[in-house]
Amino acid sequence: MTVPQISACSGVEKVAVANVPRSPFGADSTAEEVTEGVDLAGKLAVVTGCTSGIGFETMRVLAKRGAHVVGTSRSLEKAEAACGRVTGVTTAVQLELSSFDSVVACAESIRSQKSPIDILVCNAGYRGGGNERQLVNGIEKHFVVNHLGHFVLVNRLLERLLPARQGRIVVVASRAAYRGAPAGGIGFDDLGMARSYSDSAAYGQSKLANVLFSLQLAEMLRGTRITCNSLHPGVINTDIDRNLNPLTRFGFELLTKLSGKTIEEGAATSCYVASSDLLRSTSGHYFEDCNAVTIRGTGHMHDKAMAEKLMLVSEELTAEYLVEWRRPEWSELDDDLQNQTDG
Ligand SMILES: NC(=O)c1ccc[n+]([C@@H]2O[C@H](COP(=O)([O-])OP(=O)(O)OC[C@H]3O[C@@H](n4cnc5c(N)ncnc54)[C@H](OP(=O)(O)O)[C@@H]3O)[C@@H](O)[C@H]2O)c1
Repeated sequence: MTVPQISACSGVEKVAVANVPRSPFGADSTAEEVTEGVDLAGKLAVVTGCTSGIGFETMRVLAKRGAHVVGTSRSLEKAEAACGRVTGVTTAVQLELSSFDSVVACAESIRSQKSPIDILVCNAGYRGGGNERQLVNGIEKHFVVNHLGHFVLVNRLLERLLPARQGRIVVVASRAAYRGAPAGGIGFDDLGMARSYSDSAAYGQSKLANVLFSLQLAEMLRGTRITCNSLHPGVINTDIDRNLNPLTRFGFELLTKLSGKTIEEGAATSCYVASSDLLRSTSGHYFEDCNAVTIRGTGHMHDKAMAEKLMLVSEELTAEYLVEWRRPEWSELDDDLQNQTDG
């Protein structure tokens, strides 16, 4: 079977994944369009970084489709204000991804909801400006906020995703994972990036970590009802450029005007991957414009050895914040499902 080549430029070839259903949606579909007719009533969703940009729109649309959405921000007041602007059931929770104590507290707060988690969208993200390297406990800040914080959060919420009818973990990465990450991939021997630093390489490395984490997590979750996929939302004029200098910010905003997406379009791939019936058993893939793609020609997007190593290194770096999770027996899951149906 031939697979359609979607695009090829600057040494990168983007190819549709043959064994994932093609969606009828594309770059100009909106989050509302891709979820038209989807009923999320009774489902619990978590969206990190709900206060602006793609995360706010993702929360708004998942809530509009009936899900109870837990939305996070570094500031509880900001999360509450964002939740207050949404029609539907929402709960605000505080989360600072650069503090693992905060991640643990956030996970505990979400677990107090008692019901299984159906959708977890790891959306929150940080992009530095000014090419000033920042460290959190000796590790470069992008890697901590964008990858390790979510790594701990997912670990502490897994037990709640397992009993869901079909749990979905959606990791919002970026095409910076193959356009901006260092050529050698993740620099495990220099996670402080002392040897060489730029904001774009650090951001790209953290986004590559998002993709590889999702790839390896999908592998670990094989045989459960949880799927895990990552995605690039598009290039969108959001607050992600808040730390850039005014000139670079102007350039980014111009780029988004000329060839970018609206925020409504920017949240479409997240909402599609989080809720489409077509993707019930799709796991371990990377999406752009609502379709799974393979990136060929450059980078480490599908590098299984690097994904495995990332999982081990991330476990070592966050060991004291992780919990053991137990894969439930199928009979237990059946009981859970029965209870959910009865309830
Ligand atoms: N916009 C684009 O062109 C683009 C392209 C590719 C990928 N992405 C990815 O899309 C995701 C959403 O970004 P966006 O464009 O919507 O940007 P945004 O408007 O800046 O939103 C980022 C969200 O992340 C939260 N956040 C930032 N730092 C955090 C931290 N240390 N701990 C916890 N939460 C934090 C922010 O919440 P508070 O400030 O309220 O805490 C905010 O809600 C990110 O992962 C980004 O990398 C965006």
